[in-house]
Amino acid sequence: MELRIENLTKAYGRKVALRNFTATLSSGIYGLLGPNGAGKSTMMKILTENLSADKGQILVDGIPSDKLGADYRALLGYMPQQQGLYPHFTARRFLYYIAGLKGMTKSRATEEVERAAAMVNMTEYLDKRLGTYSGGMKQRILIAQAVLGSPKILILDEPTAGLDPKERIRIRNLISQISMDRIVILATHVVSDVEYIAKEILMLKDGCLISQLRPSALLQQMKGKVFEICVPEDRVEEVQSRYLVGNIRKDETDRIWARVIGNQKPNEAQAQEVMPTLEDVYLYTFEERMPEGGSL
Ligand SMILES: Nc1ncnc2c1ncn2[C@@H]1O[C@H](COP(=O)(O)OP(=O)(O)OP(=O)(O)O)[C@@H](O)[C@H]1O
Ligand SMILES: [Mg+2]
Repeated sequence: MELRIENLTKAYGRKVALRNFTATLSSGIYGLLGPNGAGKSTMMKILTENLSADKGQILVDGIPSDKLGADYRALLGYMPQQQGLYPHFTARRFLYYIAGLKGMTKSRATEEVERAAAMVNMTEYLDKRLGTYSGGMKQRILIAQAVLGSPKILILDEPTAGLDPKERIRIRNLISQISMDRIVILATHVVSDVEYIAKEILMLKDGCLISQLRPSALLQQMKGKVFEICVPEDRVEEVQSRYLVGNIRKDETDRIWARVIGNQKPNEAQAQEVMPTLEDVYLYTFEERMPEGGSL
């Protein structure tokens, strides 16, 4: 299946939240990466028909979504960024409720609720009230509601928000497992959520799609732009204002090393090129402030 997104544009009043967003997606995980306010949720709301675009269209295998109508909506599973859960509902009741909204018959709903719950490892907690769940359990149930009915296009808006690192990894692996034969679009501003599982990363900045590349290609682009320099304690502040600094660490002998991102090797003692990570790509791409030293 091919999902083609063409020229999606949306303004809220005078604020343009999405500008000519164009992309072609096939099965696999796509990481939609961008800082707060970049337009990720706006894109996802339009894709799921929770918001109408000012301009542009969506095509599935060449057929426009407005022609497909209900058939298009049946292809979609959506986990919104902010979703309240009724604390007094049990997970089972909540999932039945969503299955009903998706138009499933009672017997189909029963099958699907069991299947989705098993998928997210929540079978044994289905009859507990949602109010008693941990953050990770809530996120898993929200993913379960999105996969009810086996939608071919899964849209997850910050599915790991607010989770501790262990739960983050679990949710990430879970998403990776359920991505077979599906298009999964996952919005986040946390690089590690998509670093290892995404087929491609879509970078969104001020409503514009600025790149759509495989993680390996992004890393390739950063080659020769990331360095470590040894910094005396009294220069830490100066170095931070002079360069784009990713990370500062102390080694076992208490020497301070700063990870510096820029187009040229910094003219500093013991500067050495290091392997770029996606975190470096993110910083380099989304840093607003140009350091004084003009190293970018
Ligand atoms: N209902 C609205 N009314 C007015 N402005 C809005 C509305 N929704 C979003 N915006 C603005 O549109 C821009 C894009 O917002 P959007 O929620 O799509 O960003 P996002 O990338 O999802 O951000 P976040 O990472 O914080 O979730 C922001 O500047 C936001 O303030
Ligand atoms: Mg958002």
